[in-house]
Amino acid sequence: MPLPPGPKQLPLIGNIHQVIGVLPHQSLASLAKKYGPLMHLQLGEVTLVVISSPDVAKEILKDQEHCFAQRPEITANEILSYANASLILDRIISNHEVKLRSNTATYSEDVVDVLLKQQQTSDLNFPITMNVIKDVIMSEVRAALKGKTRIKESDIQNLEYLKNIVKETLRLHPPGTLMPKEATEECTVRGYRMPRKAKVVFNLSVFGRDLEYWSDPESFKPERFEETSIDFRGGSFEYLPFGGWRRICPGINFALANIELPLAQLLYHFDWETADGKKPEELDMTESFGITSKRKNDLVLFPTIVIVATSEEGDVPGELD
Ligand code: HEM
Repeated sequence: MPLPPGPKQLPLIGNIHQVIGVLPHQSLASLAKKYGPLMHLQLGEVTLVVISSPDVAKEILKDQEHCFAQRPEITANEILSYANASLILDRIISNHEVKLRSNTATYSEDVVDVLLKQQQTSDLNFPITMNVIKDVIMSEVRAALKGKTRIKESDIQNLEYLKNIVKETLRLHPPGTLMPKEATEECTVRGYRMPRKAKVVFNLSVFGRDLEYWSDPESFKPERFEETSIDFRGGSFEYLPFGGWRRICPGINFALANIELPLAQLLYHFDWETADGKKPEELDMTESFGITSKRKNDLVLFPTIVIVATSEEGDVPGELD
């Protein structure tokens, strides 16, 4: 039975040259456009299967959960870092091969050419348009909390738009871009062989942008969550910022509480201006890659206090709720 389809492999390094670069989740996304949502890559000695569509994710996480419930000992980041480290070694070997073959073949030169090209791979930008969003969110927070001088967790329950902004941000920029699993035994998915111990990564960054599931997916539209029952509790495979099924993130509520409350407080007590008078849609949304993905460059904003927070008995001086 064949392995899933994938790009042609070079001797020794396999497909490493195709995934290194600043943002592996984006390199993997563009390879998946060509080779499909179930794709095999060989990274040195590591067999990697990349999942890039919600329906294949469902088959693996739900229908074949007995096979893929395990997380590998190393993270997706480490798998790709391993690939980078292995590349250094392999390139030395490859250089030796160039020397050995210098008079006979151009093959090794091609390898070096490819690597150099990949090293020059630059970041991609994912600009989002947010013209009216700033006004809508400010007025929701200010209107709902009018008259208060302190905001508590119980106050934010009705801030639907704010919650939808958080959801929409997690759709376009899930922090865990590449969710890793490992096949505990050999199994078959869509007629392809998944070898035991194969590393499987779910490219969560493409799920939320899948045209089959989302309309106008590249636009930042928090209102899309008003009309849908999709949520991140793991049942909607097109929206897995917290993973899904058996091993779903157990910290969802804790995570949301730590995003929504501080965000509401910052929006309620301050007016915000971007540095250099940039419009929200002109913000640099370039991502960086790591165990979690975040913005590459700092977001520089200028706050102006509009509503002064009062302290209550029992507060620790200087502490923000
Ligand atoms: C926005 C914040 C967060 C995001 C996007 C996030 C996302 C994820 C994802 C994608 C997974 C992998 C799920 C899988 O393999 O199926 C995960 C696992 C996990 N998360 Fe989170 N997480 C967040 C915050 C937190 C917080 C605050 C905690 C703890 C308080 C937490 C604890 C865990 C644990 C323990 C696991 C491993 C679960 C297991 O292996 O069974 N996470 N998270």
